Amino acid sequence: MVNIFNKMVVMTMPLVPKPVVGFFSRKYIAGDSLDDGIKVVKELNSRNIKATMDVLGEDISEISEAYASRDQYLETLERIRDEKVDANVSIKLSQMGLRIDRQKCIEIMTEIVKKAQEYGNFVRIDMEDVTATDDTLHVYRALKEKFTNVGVVLQAYLRRTINDINSLWGQGLNFRLCKGIYIEKRQFAYKQMRIINESFAYNLRKMFEANAYVGIATHDEYIVFKALSIIDEMKIPKTMYEFQMLLGVDEELRDIIVNSGHNLRVYVPYGKQWYAYSMRRLKENPAVAGHIIKDILRFK
Ligand code: FDA
Repeated sequence: MVNIFNKMVVMTMPLVPKPVVGFFSRKYIAGDSLDDGIKVVKELNSRNIKATMDVLGEDISEISEAYASRDQYLETLERIRDEKVDANVSIKLSQMGLRIDRQKCIEIMTEIVKKAQEYGNFVRIDMEDVTATDDTLHVYRALKEKFTNVGVVLQAYLRRTINDINSLWGQGLNFRLCKGIYIEKRQFAYKQMRIINESFAYNLRKMFEANAYVGIATHDEYIVFKALSIIDEMKIPKTMYEFQMLLGVDEELRDIIVNSGHNLRVYVPYGKQWYAYSMRRLKENPAVAGHIIKDILRFK
């Protein structure tokens, strides 16, 4: 019933005027400009929360767009350094030309990761849908050969994730583990939340066994509990993990985690492409549309 409601909401979203979508997306997106992004990061830092900055945009059609995005990321890294804020960057490889020319994508990412290294910063590669998984991990491997300040995301809903951890086993791994946001076929992804949660816990344990640093990305308190019990049982030091959450989601849980003394990082998306981003996310995950409608009702 909830699913049907969410799907109906998604179908009608394009009819909602852009300023209205903008109003309700505001909670989840820092704004149009780098200034907006930095302002939100400063607010978070003042509450003892770290940030990861995402310049909105993905699935480009011309490689020239990748160079423009590269420049935006280089500028972002520079501002992070100049303003001395506690933030790194998260990047979608489709925005850097992954689907157009994988080699060029590696070259572009090399420039960004190199700049981040010079500034003592870090680059997280977001994970997109399953058609990009192999190529994303290929680029991660290529970068990891030269740099230590780069990490990748793995998704607990994918059946292949256990094997991906096995194949990456080695020194200096840095993962973000999340459930996964895209709608995938059952052939590739677990569909039952119970199994996805089991998979999250199993893969988290595996990542710690591989001596990886892990960003535990979730708003699900059950997963937070599972993670904390694994951390306690395996005696994982605070230097080897952090919790991660999206901007605007369950700030109460966020504060509980921070006040318990754990590191927490918030994903801060910003940029001119906020409308395309919001609409795509809504289509990919109708549940998000449901959250927005709930906000609208609460607003009334
Ligand atoms: P779950 O979906 O069970 O949600 C738990 C609760 O959180 C829900 O009850 C709901 O109330 C709330 N909630 C969750 N998402 C919300 C939202 N967007 N708005 C409002 N409330 C929400 N995925 C991916 O495929 N590739 C990636 O690279 C990333 N990167 C990433 C970074 C960070 C920092 C986070 C937190 C998440 C991602 N994700 C992602 C998304 C992730 O895969 C997943 O879809 C969401 O985090 C939702 O899963 P939860 O673990 O929060 O559980």
